[in-house]
Amino acid sequence: MSYSAQKHLKPKALSGISDEQIDQHWQLYEAYVKNTNEILEELGEAESGSHPWSELKRRLGFEFNGMVLHEYYFGNLSAGSSLSPQSALREALAERWADIDAWHNDFAKTGAMRGIGWVILYHEPATGSLFNWWISDHEVNHPAGLNPVLVMDVFEHAASTSMPSSTTSPGRWSSSASRTASTDTCPRASRGYFAPGPSP
Ligand SMILES: [Fe+2]
Repeated sequence: MSYSAQKHLKPKALSGISDEQIDQHWQLYEAYVKNTNEILEELGEAESGSHPWSELKRRLGFEFNGMVLHEYYFGNLSAGSSLSPQSALREALAERWADIDAWHNDFAKTGAMRGIGWVILYHEPATGSLFNWWISDHEVNHPAGLNPVLVMDVFEHAASTSMPSSTTSPGRWSSSASRTASTDTCPRASRGYFAPGPSP
């Protein structure tokens, strides 16, 4: 099997991120797709248990998650959308963090932590809990069994001079949240990679 870039997820005309910046970032995403396919092919040819096979196994998590997390990230971004005041997600966020601004502040500060990686708003199906979670690189610290709702890239390449001083302006991420209030907006959820849990 092989993966292909999910072109329908590519955002444009965003407020705060230029199309040129998205184009550059999209090329990095396409490289993760390419590398994932190459590693899967090489794994099929490598001697099981050999050192090269082991290193390919280790590398696969970085490349595969780099591919998938970028699909979530790009899929979260949409021009002109906003989080509905009546949305179940807004209600759940306000209940968890006192109000929507408190959630946003926590999400943004998690993204401002030193280091490179991702911030993911996770939903735990078993309890209904919500977490603003820090991910290192692409593959380190993912909580088992939780579903991603909102994904923010905080690698340096996600920022640019075309962006406002805060990469987590409330308008942009509120817009993103509105598109992920139901799991069917997560591209891979519909493909069975993440079993959708109850909508928060
Ligand atoms: Fe990225």
